[in-house]
Amino acid sequence: MRIPFIAGNWKMYKTIAEAKAFAKEFKALYHDTDVKTAIFAPFTQLQSLVSEFDGSGIAVGAQNVHFEKEGAFTGELSVQMLEEIKVDYCLVGHSERRQYFGETDETVNLKLKALLCSKILPVLCVGENLEEREEGKAKLLVGAQVKAAFDGIDSKDAEKVTVAYEPVWAIGTGKTATPEQANDMCACIRETLTELYDEETADRIVIQYGGSVKPENATEIMNMEEIDGALVGGASLEPLKFIEIVNF
Ligand code: PGA
Repeated sequence: MRIPFIAGNWKMYKTIAEAKAFAKEFKALYHDTDVKTAIFAPFTQLQSLVSEFDGSGIAVGAQNVHFEKEGAFTGELSVQMLEEIKVDYCLVGHSERRQYFGETDETVNLKLKALLCSKILPVLCVGENLEEREEGKAKLLVGAQVKAAFDGIDSKDAEKVTVAYEPVWAIGTGKTATPEQANDMCACIRETLTELYDEETADRIVIQYGGSVKPENATEIMNMEEIDGALVGGASLEPLKFIEIVNF
């Protein structure tokens, strides 16, 4: 049984003071639910959020990590550094990192492997851009991203990974994929995972949809059979909006 997983991705928004204010308001609105909930915040806010959410059931995630244990990598953070502050999750391969910061299928794979040696659970982002969709290449491309990301990872570890299908054309644009389009792509990701592993393993992997998820469309998206969760950008910045999505 896959447990629904709703996560907020704050990107480069909020100061520590703003993050603490969010946490206080959100905790008051949040009631124990069967839905797993997490906030992926900028590095400076992680420690405050971990302590604010302690015991609340709300998890905290980082948005990036380096794959090496340590070294001359100015500006980067290691898995161990994130473990030290008790972060639960980490995003890998968000399209903005692929687009602006040179993240490749190869570094995504290395980051997944590094995280899988720790207690931090990875959320792997995949998705096609508009041109690739219009050329009818979405499934091929996303399938290739999934295969490259999971290369050399065994089925036991693969089950710990959440996959977020995020079509680039739907991120921050207000343009959501239709629930059918999103469901179809999530089904295709599960087929690829079945090919790579087996049906049992693929059935256990949680697949989220991300791209302009908001309170108005969350229920419809979450009701789709192949969609187990949502990765929410803009609408996760406000406690009232995000709680509505968590309580879809
Ligand atoms: P959005 O972002 O909800 O603002 O479209 C989603 C994401 O980038 O994870």
